[in-house]
Amino acid sequence: MTRTVFEKSQAGQHAYSLPKSDPEWEVDEPPAQLLRKSSLDLPEISEIDLTRHFSQLAQRNMGIDTNFYPLGSCTMKLNPRVNELCAQFPGFVRTHPLAPDDSVQGNLELIHDLLKILCELCGMTAGSLLPNAGAQGEYVGIRMISAYHRKRGDLKRTEILIPDSAHGTNPATASIAGFTIVPIRTNRQGDMDLDHLREMTSEHTAGLMLTNPNTLGLFSPVIMEICEIVHAKGGLLYYDGANMNAILNIAKPGEMGFDVMHLNLHKTFSTPHGGGGPGSGPVLCNDKLKPFLPVPRVECDQDKYKIVWSSEASIGHIASFHGNFSIYLRAYLYAMLHGNYGLRRIGEQSVLNANYLKSRIKNLFKVPFEQACMHEFVVQADRFVDKGVRALDIAKRLLDYGIYAPTIYFPLIIKECLLIEPTESESKDTLDHFIAVLEKIVEEIERDPEFVKSAPHNLSIGRLDEVRAAKQPILKERL
Ligand SMILES: Cc1ncc(COP(=O)(O)O)c(C=O)c1O
Repeated sequence: MTRTVFEKSQAGQHAYSLPKSDPEWEVDEPPAQLLRKSSLDLPEISEIDLTRHFSQLAQRNMGIDTNFYPLGSCTMKLNPRVNELCAQFPGFVRTHPLAPDDSVQGNLELIHDLLKILCELCGMTAGSLLPNAGAQGEYVGIRMISAYHRKRGDLKRTEILIPDSAHGTNPATASIAGFTIVPIRTNRQGDMDLDHLREMTSEHTAGLMLTNPNTLGLFSPVIMEICEIVHAKGGLLYYDGANMNAILNIAKPGEMGFDVMHLNLHKTFSTPHGGGGPGSGPVLCNDKLKPFLPVPRVECDQDKYKIVWSSEASIGHIASFHGNFSIYLRAYLYAMLHGNYGLRRIGEQSVLNANYLKSRIKNLFKVPFEQACMHEFVVQADRFVDKGVRALDIAKRLLDYGIYAPTIYFPLIIKECLLIEPTESESKDTLDHFIAVLEKIVEEIERDPEFVKSAPHNLSIGRLDEVRAAKQPILKERL
């Protein structure tokens, strides 16, 4: 069990040493009534012990820089170090968000050019980098759809269609934006049930939210038909770009028929998950929805960039200042350093890695969809249920082997589901190691299911009560 920094406290130890102050700089004592009446109850610990304490805590964490991280739907890929380095250049770090336009032309150019690159890759004509996460991008996009219908006086469109395989943020977004959710069934091939879609689309449909490839890792061969069905009834199409890695510079949502979408820069464009939110979820759209984009916007007039703070039809402000600038910087570098060919290779390699893994583990787990997958795939761990072993147990045992667990129990429509996304960053060696570890775990389940059910065994903490940890988190060192 880890000892807390309070338990390590020893009277008289200090983690700092300050020189005696120069008499010239001495200030008057604060007034007596402002002085503390008792000393602060802080731990007393030497600098080396404090450094070790925090370094050891950091080492207990798993991250993309320390472990293979095949977390489906999250695209945990390499965050290139060169991008991290450039994001720390003082010229960028020290820019004030209210600096006059003339003094920050380079930053504004970067915002403008990154949007142009993203629009070209996605087949859209305009956009905003402002949303701080994919889910916020969804919210912005759905509010733009709402504003579009309202502007036309079409007030009866109160429903958003969402497939039953969707990520939870999709229905949450549509619901927060005031819409009624209409779920659409997934068919046996893992694609949207077109007959059900036709049945549920009506003059009340404001739009459809969809990710393609979907959350099962499958690209819909009938995507153009899906878009036509919704458009024919006057609805709009929202593309959830969380799975864009698979089709990067290969297929464009705008050309499939989508009207508005988000990208997760912290997934597809390799920026770290973290850094002021999950990162950045730019929203991109076609000309129909352009007037409703949030503000501020960066415009270019004869090579001069300027910030436009308001616009008549805009849905308004949705983030502080210009959003998460240092994330834009990393994504811009990622796109520029890869170039068009390199970006396409990312999509191709991520799909190849996923299909390699899928074909090598299909004897270990049930594969509900036989066809080739895109950048991720689902398997089912339901054949161990009679031994009492579930997907959760396999996920916990993987941690013992130094591998972060895949996403489990999502999508909800697949029983005992593991959603595996290796990404293009990983070598064949790493994938083969992962396969060997899964083989070992399946052997362990056959031999000693209780051992797997009580994993993890090698980590500093064992099985947590995850529901309680989420509902009653202990956020203080001491109660
Ligand atoms: C399919 C899908 N949509 C939306 C999101 C939400 O993105 P974010 O975590 O950036 O808010 C995710 C996140 O994992 C996702 O996988």
